[in-house]
Amino acid sequence: MNNETLLKNLRSIPDFPQKGIMFRDVTTLFKDPECLNIMVDELYEMYKDKGITKIVGIESRGFVISSALAIRLGAGVILCRKPGKLPAETVQESYTKEYGTDTIEIHKDSINENDVILLHDDLLATGGTMKAAYNLVNKFNPKKIYVNFLIELVNENLNGRSIFDEGTDIQTLIQV
Ligand code: PRP
Ligand code: HPA
Repeated sequence: MNNETLLKNLRSIPDFPQKGIMFRDVTTLFKDPECLNIMVDELYEMYKDKGITKIVGIESRGFVISSALAIRLGAGVILCRKPGKLPAETVQESYTKEYGTDTIEIHKDSINENDVILLHDDLLATGGTMKAAYNLVNKFNPKKIYVNFLIELVNENLNGRSIFDEGTDIQTLIQV
């Protein structure tokens, strides 16, 4: 029922940002108070007993739920950003995505070995972005890394899950 509400409210835009891409637009879930509540409540139930200390939100749509959920979980938020946006010393990782290549980075002093990390983004397509974020966070040797997306693209033969090592804890709220 909850997931039906999310699916019903998710907007799809053909040929954005380029021809052939069916863009799943989560802004329609963010602007709807009921959807926002459903997403944060479901994620809270998923992760409340995991001892999460920090949520790493991926630019830019990953930031929205990361902060709301972090407040509920009593965790901190780390921004994983495109290059040149973070002011202090960073660690970087480059990756290939569904439409182009990119680099992401986080502050060098953001994670330590006692942290239990939840990596969060809006959407899993090829998995390139999240895999890069995972590799980046893994360099800090945290106790555990959980991976979460609001949406998993399952009908476009991208098979984003397959690029993660078997045993990686990946949860998604809706599959499209
Ligand atoms: C989109 C999306 C994910 C990523 C998913 O972000 O929000 O971060 O692509 O694709 P992948 O699984 O193939 O890596 P985008 O790069 O468009 O950045 P934005 O959120 O800043 O617009
Ligand atoms: N929506 C948002 N981000 C994306 C998508 C999409 O459909 N495909 C790849 N990144």
